[in-house]
Amino acid sequence: MTHRTSQAPSDNALWWRSAVTYQIYLRSFADASGDGLGDIAGIRKRLGHLAGLGVDAVWLNPWYPSPQADGGYDVADYRSIEPTFGTLREAELLIEEAHAIGLKVLLDIVPNHTSDEHPWFREALAARPGSPERNRYVFRPGRGDDGQLPPNDWWATFGGSAWERVTEADGAPGEWYLHLFDVKQPDLNWENPEVRQEFRDILRFWFDRGADGFRIDVAHGLSKDLALPDLGEERSKVMGVPDRPDHPHWDRPEVHEIFREWRKVAQEYTPEKIFVAEAWVYSPDRLQPYLRSDELHTAFDFDFLRTQWDAQALRTCVETSLSLLDEVGAPVLWVLSNHDVPRHVTRLGRTSIDPQDPLRRTTGPVDLELGRRRARALLMFELTLPGGVYLYQGEELGLEEIDDLPEEALQDPTWRRSGFTVRGRDGCRVPVPWSSAGPSLGFSDADPWLPMPAHWRELAVDRQETDPASMLWLYRNALRLRKEIPALGAGDGALPHWHDLGREVLAYSREPGFTCVVNTGRDPVRVPDGQPVLTSVPLAEGEPLPGNAAIWLLH
Ligand code: GLC
Repeated sequence: MTHRTSQAPSDNALWWRSAVTYQIYLRSFADASGDGLGDIAGIRKRLGHLAGLGVDAVWLNPWYPSPQADGGYDVADYRSIEPTFGTLREAELLIEEAHAIGLKVLLDIVPNHTSDEHPWFREALAARPGSPERNRYVFRPGRGDDGQLPPNDWWATFGGSAWERVTEADGAPGEWYLHLFDVKQPDLNWENPEVRQEFRDILRFWFDRGADGFRIDVAHGLSKDLALPDLGEERSKVMGVPDRPDHPHWDRPEVHEIFREWRKVAQEYTPEKIFVAEAWVYSPDRLQPYLRSDELHTAFDFDFLRTQWDAQALRTCVETSLSLLDEVGAPVLWVLSNHDVPRHVTRLGRTSIDPQDPLRRTTGPVDLELGRRRARALLMFELTLPGGVYLYQGEELGLEEIDDLPEEALQDPTWRRSGFTVRGRDGCRVPVPWSSAGPSLGFSDADPWLPMPAHWRELAVDRQETDPASMLWLYRNALRLRKEIPALGAGDGALPHWHDLGREVLAYSREPGFTCVVNTGRDPVRVPDGQPVLTSVPLAEGEPLPGNAAIWLLH
């Protein structure tokens, strides 16, 4: 067959329906200033890596001034840049330079809470109970004779009560404020029109500076039942994800009105700006309303991320997500890793499976060779599915979760708030190894903010560059082919056509003329007819496909 170079997604207004977006966790990407923390200048130096990889867009984690109590998700000023990351001018230049090489730029908006060092929260503390300043947040008197007990039993995602008591201006113990995350992240009151107006203006501020869209942090959390009902002993400690559809502070119906307002702001621009929701919902059908045509454009498919290495489970997840989102005309965004979950090489390599722990946070035996082999095959599956894909920095190098960071290095607030029992998310945030030489493997001239394992020398970009069998080259080749093969990309409304090659095999075709086969089992399987264009393991023509491997075929 002849290859037609399909239109690059970035050339059209619907680019977001099929784009491959690379998540840059700024703190750990590249440090140019030499303070051990990544920065904007570091990204600008490494844009060539992204162009060479072949992605269409980048998403940058928060870069705003912040005390960094939660890696920048505690924002003190939404219209400026954290000085350790750079300046507003550098941010604008980065956006320009990314655009010049065809990359869209998505920023990260944090609307559920501000930092406790945000001027609004300072004003709220200085003001009286019942004042307009307090009404931007969720302040309430405590329970008990002296108000000494929190207003209800909600728990914070990082551990402990979701309420903190303040001291009033006269020095007396006073009201409590809600924080669904860290104590330094007070929740905003989204029923307050002033809050809504402020965030619409913040969106415009960055859209006017060239940002192509936003990832929305905790999109499922903005609206709360302000009657503040207790959850009960058991439910209150299920953290981060709703345990039922009717939850008083996750995935409330009122949240949709906010996003309808945001969509209108996006539509003030040509081409329209776009949103991607971080929404952890109870079941896949709960994602659908966020993606109605007058709400958000896209949302991460966290069910795909949580699905085990099992052909039937993966197929069910893919079919469910595609058909649910197709009903509202939205593309699915496939994602395997991000800065909040253990890296998928490690998840796929864990040899003991606890169904209660789909993210495999618990440590246990890991076979990294197996994890990497499966990760190669799973990438080849992911990149052929209809819709868009999000990649997390370092996955193109096959980086694994670092489970054994020294305790004194841990920075995730989860560690402290869990009473030093839950290590948290630092293990997936260890900086990127760029070169096999030097003390911090090309990430920085100083000690990196989290220690990097010496064995990552073998995984450094410069090492993998020269090895055609490396993970890096698999990503490059697969991303190039994804653009070249007409059947791949958005494929709106087209469900894959599945073939039955056994319970442990995922095999499907997309028109015109493309088949992907993934063998999740151990026994080799016969490869269907067709011209092989990519394999996850070396494979001679006519040889059966071994276990934990994938192949792409044209016919
Ligand atoms: C989101 C972010 C996470 C952060 C939390 C609170 O889940 O991805 O990193 O800690 O929101 O803002």
